[in-house]
Amino acid sequence: MVKNDRQIIIGITGGIAAYKTCDLVSSLIKQDYAIRCIMTECATKFITPLTFQSLSQERVFVDQFEYNPYKGPLHISLVDFAQLIVVMPATANFISKVAVGMADDLLTSVVLSSPKPLIVVPAMNTEMWNKAVTQENVRKLKERGIIFVGPVSGRLSCGTTGIGHVALVADVIKAINKVIEK
Ligand SMILES: Cc1cc2nc3c(=O)[nH]c(=O)nc-3n(C[C@H](O)[C@H](O)[C@H](O)COP(=O)(O)O)c2cc1C
Repeated sequence: MVKNDRQIIIGITGGIAAYKTCDLVSSLIKQDYAIRCIMTECATKFITPLTFQSLSQERVFVDQFEYNPYKGPLHISLVDFAQLIVVMPATANFISKVAVGMADDLLTSVVLSSPKPLIVVPAMNTEMWNKAVTQENVRKLKERGIIFVGPVSGRLSCGTTGIGHVALVADVIKAINKVIEK
């Protein structure tokens, strides 16, 4: 893959807030970042890879076993590409998998293989976020240096209001620029 110094992997997991990541990708492209999107299978139920392909002007990766147009295993090529990985929205499921070191799909394989910074932008139902196991997983990841942006309080897609709403795209971009410009 061609290298420049502003290359980011955007991971998208299976939550309603996946549509907000379109705005993130679009804004980053306007700021001259090169983006590769990795979607979980569940994320593709919420929004199509075609949307992210159009916005990132690149193919979108979902299946870790598909043919790699670059050299070596696909997840390793993607790790080599990125200075930073951002996962937005990040499900409770994704957070728990990272906490225990699971790598059962392309996104978690990339995250586990990567020495680069990781920004996690969670979005979920308030009960899910407040659950002791989720809070324990978040604490573990923060202790390992993983950066969290949000969640914030707001109206959730399940009809309730509370903590769990995805952070503003502007705040995610601020966190990205801070890491890249370090
Ligand atoms: C309509 C709908 C909305 C969902 N929204 C969320 C969400 O916002 N956050 C979350 O953690 N899980 C949410 N889930 C559950 C996840 O999709 C589910 O845990 C899935 O296994 C996540 O897979 P992934 O982490 O591999 O993408 C939702 C499920 C449905 C059906």
